[in-house]
Amino acid sequence: MVQFSLPEKSKVLKGNYFKDTSGSKNIKKINIYRWSPDKNENPKIDTFEVDITKCGNKVLDILNKIKNEIDPSVTYRRSCAHGVCGSCAMNVDGINTLSCMKSHKDIKGDINIYPLPHLKVIKDLVADLSTLYRQYESIEPWLKIKEIKSKKIEITQSKQNRKKLDGLYECIMCACCSTSCPSYWWNGEKYLGPAVLLQAYRWIIDSRDEERKERLKTVGDKLKLYGCHTIMNCTNSCPKGLNPAKAISSLKKMLATN
Ligand code: SF4
Ligand code: SF4
Ligand code: FES
Repeated sequence: MVQFSLPEKSKVLKGNYFKDTSGSKNIKKINIYRWSPDKNENPKIDTFEVDITKCGNKVLDILNKIKNEIDPSVTYRRSCAHGVCGSCAMNVDGINTLSCMKSHKDIKGDINIYPLPHLKVIKDLVADLSTLYRQYESIEPWLKIKEIKSKKIEITQSKQNRKKLDGLYECIMCACCSTSCPSYWWNGEKYLGPAVLLQAYRWIIDSRDEERKERLKTVGDKLKLYGCHTIMNCTNSCPKGLNPAKAISSLKKMLATN
């Protein structure tokens, strides 16, 4: 019988335990994935006891409290703290989400925090998004007008055409959807994944853009687009409530009818 085992250094081990020293009765246990390229060690899960009476409501507030008061080496990305920049995306309690939007009060028991799944880890909760950014660049996410008529002329759009961008322009490229998509896990180098495909669709249906045909042709590749098997994990995980699966099916429909 075939036996599978993980490479020696990939097994996740039990890490350090940081006990609360305040004596508070309102303690939450936070388990955080830790791994550093500077140490030749296995990844581990550190546990922090945190007094949540003296903490904001969001998971990011807990992480900031841990970093500021317990262990400054805990590493994660964050910037806006208002669900706008997309940098604090991580896996909280088994779901990809923005830690600045996720309330820890909604989570019963311990809180488990991991980096976004199926990506290389740079350090602790920081995942390597370079492939996704390369793919984003490949769809050329900017307005393309063949001839710039005059710098002084505004490129206008009717209200109806502007409305078509609703549910798309709000995407903050946090990657929660792509990293929850099984097709992207298996074929991430070739399949563009839901985040990039939603963005591609956003530019394809922009009435001001003049390269719709070329864009459709670029995206209409067997693996770049048709890697999607309509599993819908992407839509379920989007913290902004967007529907990348619908954008992908609209792209497929456009290709079938163009
Ligand atoms: S569609 Fe949603 S989950 Fe995907 S990148 Fe955009 S905002 Fe993030
Ligand atoms: S619907 Fe498509 S893009 Fe979304 S999770 Fe499923 S396979 Fe991935
Ligand atoms: S810190 Fe910007 S989206 Fe969370």
